[in-house]
Amino acid sequence: MTKDLMPLTEYLVDARKRKYALGGYCLWSYAYGMAIAEVSQKFNLPMLYIIGDAEIKFMGGLSNAVAAAKTIAGNVDVPVILHADHFRDYESICRAIDAGFKSVMIDASAYPLEENIERTAKVVEYAHKAGVSVEGELGRIAGNEQHLSLSEEESMQTDPDEAARFVKETGIDILATCIGTVHGAYRFPPKINISRLQKISEKVSIPLVMHGGSGTPEDKMAEAVNYGITKINIATDLVTTVGKAISKVQLQDGFNYTVANLYAPACADLAVYAEHKMRLLAKNIL
Ligand code: 13P
Repeated sequence: MTKDLMPLTEYLVDARKRKYALGGYCLWSYAYGMAIAEVSQKFNLPMLYIIGDAEIKFMGGLSNAVAAAKTIAGNVDVPVILHADHFRDYESICRAIDAGFKSVMIDASAYPLEENIERTAKVVEYAHKAGVSVEGELGRIAGNEQHLSLSEEESMQTDPDEAARFVKETGIDILATCIGTVHGAYRFPPKINISRLQKISEKVSIPLVMHGGSGTPEDKMAEAVNYGITKINIATDLVTTVGKAISKVQLQDGFNYTVANLYAPACADLAVYAEHKMRLLAKNIL
């Protein structure tokens, strides 16, 4: 049995109101996705998956990703959301929506503000007609290889006044903020700019997002949730968890190759990781 996927907005609006966040967990296989969905079900939290170009390609295309998420939805009693992560152009977002995505991110943050507004607003118009939630991004999230000075880093971060204008003029439902996190493992100590987030949250009332959740200090995550962060994207940590479990299990005495022997420990470790993060991010409501 399959079940429909859900738009994201209403869940994050509730999260902002009640000061909790959902992890946005990277999806690249039914089995690993299901391992995390069972934890969401345990806490009665919506299951939120994020998926980008690379994972979609790995799964064999948009419709396979949608089919996997709908099958997971059919196997749990909580809403399941599949969110297209960092899609960069109108055409690919239209294709994702036509394939069944109910939640998308348009990342036009590499463009100057005016062009970011224009590109994002165009996506909002198409998506909202189809009942699809839209996340936009303002500011630039650094790559993990970039060791920037504080002033360089600050100049890439989301400007609170521009954020207010961006939200108003695009009509987005959800705003991705750039406050010092990076995508991938940190290669230098993270400096998360909570005071900037606080200013953004004073000017912007829609749900806010933190990208680059892997390796971000948990005390900063918890603090960020108090200032409007409602979704924290997590990808690298999940891949690392799976990779470590698979390599470790093969070294055990008496290990023999069956699908269950090889992959079940990875699923179990993902569940432990997800449970820990859900307890942290949703501690105000659990
Ligand atoms: P990490 O890989 O650092 O967890 O970042 C994921 C992310 O933000 C995807 O948008």
